[in-house]
Amino acid sequence: MNVRFLFTWSIVCGFLWPASFAAELPKFDPPALYLTWQRDPSTTMTVHWHSDWTEGFRDPALQYQEAKSRKWTLAVGAWHPMPFTNRIVHTVELTGLKPSTEYRFRLGKLMAQGALGFRFEPDSPTNKFRTMPATGDQPIRFAVGGDVYGDRERYEVMCRHVAELDPHFAIVGGDIAYENGNPANARRWFAFLEVWMTEMVAPDGRLIPILPAIGNHETHGNAYTRGGGGVGSGISPNRSPYYFSLFSMPGKPGYNVLDFGNYLSVFLMDSFHANRVAGPQTEWLEQALGRRRHVKHIVAAYHVPAYPSYRPYRGQVSEMIREHWVPLFEKGGLRLVFEHHDHTYKRTHPLRGGKVDPKGIVFVGDGCWGVIPRKTHPVDKTWYLARAESVNHVNFVTLQGDRRHVKSVNIDGHVIDEFHLDGKGPPVVSGNER
Ligand SMILES: [Fe+2]
Ligand SMILES: [Fe+2]
Repeated sequence: MNVRFLFTWSIVCGFLWPASFAAELPKFDPPALYLTWQRDPSTTMTVHWHSDWTEGFRDPALQYQEAKSRKWTLAVGAWHPMPFTNRIVHTVELTGLKPSTEYRFRLGKLMAQGALGFRFEPDSPTNKFRTMPATGDQPIRFAVGGDVYGDRERYEVMCRHVAELDPHFAIVGGDIAYENGNPANARRWFAFLEVWMTEMVAPDGRLIPILPAIGNHETHGNAYTRGGGGVGSGISPNRSPYYFSLFSMPGKPGYNVLDFGNYLSVFLMDSFHANRVAGPQTEWLEQALGRRRHVKHIVAAYHVPAYPSYRPYRGQVSEMIREHWVPLFEKGGLRLVFEHHDHTYKRTHPLRGGKVDPKGIVFVGDGCWGVIPRKTHPVDKTWYLARAESVNHVNFVTLQGDRRHVKSVNIDGHVIDEFHLDGKGPPVVSGNER
């Protein structure tokens, strides 16, 4: 092999060729482009995008560069079909990145290049992302909300408010596109991802990564009760063809934890949709929390609330979570847990051992990003509720030092509730800004 020729060719491919011909290339605007993480968010990024296979084969290939650099690096991943659609889901995980660094990337094609192999031909607009810090010295900001794409307008408007607040990432707590695992509703995912790609863009143009937990509406049979596709009727990741095909995180079996250095661990749990609450998931949770005693902030997000604001307190799954997970959350030192599914806003008192306790966990919910809000239980007659309101909202968390600050923003962009927890101290509620 002629090494000098290869070197020369790589120079031509990397610099001259795209500069000369890029303007003439047909642009590929992917119908969906979104980010998530599978490993350390300070050094990796997972890029997902879609293409339509009837319009031709595309490799899962992209080029990326540090925003301050001129050198592009090629990365190639894998693809698989999105079930029962014309779409291909492309996945490329970038690794070995620098923390707190802005990167640009562009999609493209691998073109056959004779005996030399392939050359990369960029053909998409350039997008950007930012890796997370390696340490928790800087404020860490993230959004949390669930029950997202009920109607498009609510979903879109809330996304705009979230993006304006410039979060590093967004946790979505289930009931994402409401397709119910049904191929006839696959287009709901097209719309969900189109809005996410368009609206969940930070003020500086960064795409905002998504960390999705599973909900009953990601599941064929709408499973979350013993009778609704649960125990004895084949509860399994196989009932969620879209959720698992669209997102690498949490991946199968449907629950996972993502570690941000040693300053934050995010648990995405499955509240009886593809996995039972008790059994392997609870055993995993206990072990995973035990290995994270050194982590400064641990938060958990899942769909069905342990402390519901609309549905009954004695709901089967709520009872299971209170029995199996909540004691582990308490032992693991969690102070903030995010719940969804009830289509309301709620904040509980700090709770520990089934009682109000200033050092306990505050449960924030209950999933009303883009669905019609429901009536809540009366706060004064519900021992665990500190606040409940029938309102669209997304929660916005800032971690700094040992402070966890949470504000909840409604569909008008107004703050409807705001509090913080310092270390092991009690929640301190701020003035209502409305
Ligand atoms: Fe829902
Ligand atoms: Fe739900």
